[in-house]
Amino acid sequence: MPITTTSPAHTRALGQKLGALLQPGDLICLQGDLGAGKTTFTQGIAAGWGALDEVSSPTFVIVNVYRGPAQTRLYHLDTYRIESTAEAEELDLDSMLTQGPLLVEWPERIQPILPVARLWITFTYKSDAEREIKLEASGARYQHLLALITNQ
Ligand SMILES: Nc1ncnc2c1ncn2[C@@H]1O[C@H](COP(=O)(O)OP(=O)(O)OP(=O)(O)O)[C@@H](O)[C@H]1O
Ligand SMILES: [Mg+2]
Repeated sequence: MPITTTSPAHTRALGQKLGALLQPGDLICLQGDLGAGKTTFTQGIAAGWGALDEVSSPTFVIVNVYRGPAQTRLYHLDTYRIESTAEAEELDLDSMLTQGPLLVEWPERIQPILPVARLWITFTYKSDAEREIKLEASGARYQHLLALITNQ
């Protein structure tokens, strides 16, 4: 069941709920067109997770790493500039996933190298202030996360 948010703050609040639950190894895919709300949602995740750094999305940076309390790390990947599977393979997602949760914007661009177990979130522009957010879980861990964020 998709959720419709009616402001950037509303989208951030939903992200925050998810962020508070994330652990190392968790993979969150954020799909949606330009301006659909992926980074806004990521800001909420980072806040809920406890990031000490601000979320940034400079177009030339592929991986952002945010520090958390006690040496923890949150990885934020924006694959928009990735041009080949070979380039994607160099990212070494596995080593990021052993160290922290991983958020991926434009996940469809690196689909072949993404682990199958993940939470896949699709953002759709509805109007100036409205975005439809669809959450799909593959695997027990993500079904659990989805139940926690949609049932409270
Ligand atoms: N309900 C809403 N949820 C999220 N963003 C919204 C909403 N309503 C309006 N906005 C606006 O839409 C824009 C979303 O931008 P954002 O950077 O989050 O998108 P994005 O999906 O990361 O785009 P890009 O692919 O360019 O990085 C922001 O300017 C935000 O203020
Ligand atoms: Mg973005």
